[in-house]
Amino acid sequence: MNIQVITHPLVQHKLTLMREAECSTGKFRTLTKELARLMTYEATRDFKIEEYEIDGWCGKIQGQRIKGKTVTVVPILRAGLGMLDGVLDLIPSAKISVVGLQRDETTLQPVSYFEKLVDKMDERPALILDPMLATGGSMVATIDLLKQKGCKNIKALVLVAAPEGVKVVNEAHPDVTIFTAALDSHLNEDGYIIPGLGDAGDKIFGTR
Ligand code: PRP
Ligand code: URA
Repeated sequence: MNIQVITHPLVQHKLTLMREAECSTGKFRTLTKELARLMTYEATRDFKIEEYEIDGWCGKIQGQRIKGKTVTVVPILRAGLGMLDGVLDLIPSAKISVVGLQRDETTLQPVSYFEKLVDKMDERPALILDPMLATGGSMVATIDLLKQKGCKNIKALVLVAAPEGVKVVNEAHPDVTIFTAALDSHLNEDGYIIPGLGDAGDKIFGTR
């Protein structure tokens, strides 16, 4: 399986706070952002770097910078927006490509309603953001879209994943690594992750 569960104590501590039934909108939103920030640190660990010369206080010295075209982050609306600021805290220059998908509550199939991608997708690494990976339909649809635009280096950042969805994404796109704070037990009959977080979009936006 192409999945990395981030077991860092801070990540696990914060995720557990989010699982509490009484977690308020404000707290849930803050924790989503904090987790996204911590997970970005892990998900960017293999970014390539290059040497370049800078003027240091004592003269010319060699420094390092991230190589290649600036990364694009791809929040999946709505809930993925909750992770965006956490990622931008660490990669302030990132370009933002937005994908709007709504899961049909009966069929559980993703329905596309918005798409605005940045230029030169074929040259940029992409980090897809969505707190929940349930059936995997939304993630596969987003990866399909990015690959159609020429994207070659794609990673997915989620807070909670269901084994069913991980299998679907891994089978459709074995090259895409999924970074998650938790690999949970299963999906219930309504397509919700158990134990999961409940409806992450509703909790972030206060629409529950
Ligand atoms: C949720 C979640 C994912 C999707 C996961 O979004 O944020 O995008 O469902 O389910 P899947 O893996 O079965 O596709 P939802 O459609 O509820 O929209 P929202 O973010 O606007 O709340
Ligand atoms: N979307 C959510 O917000 N939560 C789930 O458990 C599944 C899909």
